Amino acid sequence: MSKKYHITTFGCQMNEHDSEKLAGMLENMGYIEGLTPEDSDVIILNTCSVRENADMRFFGNLGHLKHIKKAKPDVTISVCGCMMQQEHIGETIQKKYPFVDIVFGTHNIHEFPKLLIDSLSNRNICINVWNEEGEIVENLPVKRKFETKAFINIMYGCNNFCTYCIVPYTRGRERSRKAEDILCEIKELVKMGTKEVMLLGQNVNSYGKTLEEKIDFADLLYRINEVEGLERIRFMTSHPKDLSDKLVQVFKECQKVCNHIHLPVQSGSTRILKQMNRQYTKEQYLLLVEKLRNASPDIAISTDIIVGFPGETEEDFLETLDLVKQVRYDSAFTFIYSPRKGTPAESYVDNIDAETKHKWFDALVKELNDISREKNLLYKDKIVEVLIEGSSKTDDLKLSGRTTTNKLVNFNGEGKEGDIVRVEITKAKTFSLEGQMLY
Ligand code: SAH
Ligand code: SF4
Ligand code: F3S
Repeated sequence: MSKKYHITTFGCQMNEHDSEKLAGMLENMGYIEGLTPEDSDVIILNTCSVRENADMRFFGNLGHLKHIKKAKPDVTISVCGCMMQQEHIGETIQKKYPFVDIVFGTHNIHEFPKLLIDSLSNRNICINVWNEEGEIVENLPVKRKFETKAFINIMYGCNNFCTYCIVPYTRGRERSRKAEDILCEIKELVKMGTKEVMLLGQNVNSYGKTLEEKIDFADLLYRINEVEGLERIRFMTSHPKDLSDKLVQVFKECQKVCNHIHLPVQSGSTRILKQMNRQYTKEQYLLLVEKLRNASPDIAISTDIIVGFPGETEEDFLETLDLVKQVRYDSAFTFIYSPRKGTPAESYVDNIDAETKHKWFDALVKELNDISREKNLLYKDKIVEVLIEGSSKTDDLKLSGRTTTNKLVNFNGEGKEGDIVRVEITKAKTFSLEGQMLY
């Protein structure tokens, strides 16, 4: 009988894609996916350190694995991902969770098969975390979660050092994959049935800077747009400071590039943006939004916002609220600031009480939700193209998919994953649309 593996992923899409690579390597070694950790022989926790609650969820999960290891000593427990790149975490694991077999980081996931074999033969805790990024490793096997839409790394790492953010420390310096390697991967995927690609990077707008070939992100999109059989191109994340006019034009000219951009603003106060080291002002951000809407009037815009950054005042918060009202985002992820060990902001004086932070957070979420609902209402009675992603989680609606503007649509009709169908929208909710397929 085949041995089984189970991977729990705590982080972003980059982290999820790393898990897809780990699954690909394990399947090449003959393992099959187990339904639960209890049911598996190799258990992996792929961690995230971006906010404190991700940390806490990881330690909670790890505590639970102790019982599994006790009942089944042969099981191999591995922990990896961003948290492992932080020195103090490795020390805590050694001290408090000695039942862990393998610890590795974000720069050496390709080494996992070797670490697993070593661990199976000597059963001592193996800690192998690289402090620095190595060469980009190409052609790792990937077991993809979705058949029709695929994650593709176009670059790794980050050079921006936003003062609140841990990612530059856990993912290393920015480096881009060669365009020909990216195109080759996409063409192979399209042959296997992929319809949509999601290009991943912490700041895709600075793609190409580390390459010999003279190429930027817009050039890469023009090239991917030519791939026959590919239907849709998405990407994240776009840093506002590097969004060029050339990239704005791509939305007009590349028919496969989806009509949506995720453009994290973080704050609407220029003073706070400066302290966050974001390198743009509120006015510059609003100008970008105007340019995008001039190039593509119905473009959907989503964002990330942090409230309660150290030193933020009521006035700063009102600037954020004002920006939100001006931009009218389609959707947003909102976070309460969480100090991260080793980042510059960790030492900034945080004098805002928890009650105020929560009050601001709630007011912001309410405003964002009201706007999302109003924007979704504009879709009512309209006919949209939906790429089917699978079955719907909503009772009495069969299928689910997304519009080019990234709206989730649950609908009735006949079709299979990967088909692009026309749907008439009958109902608009805050976070999704409902409709009926047209034949
Ligand atoms: N490279 C991307 C994603 C970074 S992490 C980008 O630049 O947008 C995703 C989001 O988590 C960030 O956009 C930010 O809003 C949030 N985040 C990062 N560090 C945080 C912290 N210390 N506290 C609260 N939110 C944080
Ligand atoms: Fe973090 Fe800023 Fe880099 Fe995004 S751009 S990963 S927020 S440092
Ligand atoms: Fe992603 Fe979390 Fe690492 S957001 S890059 S998994 S810190």
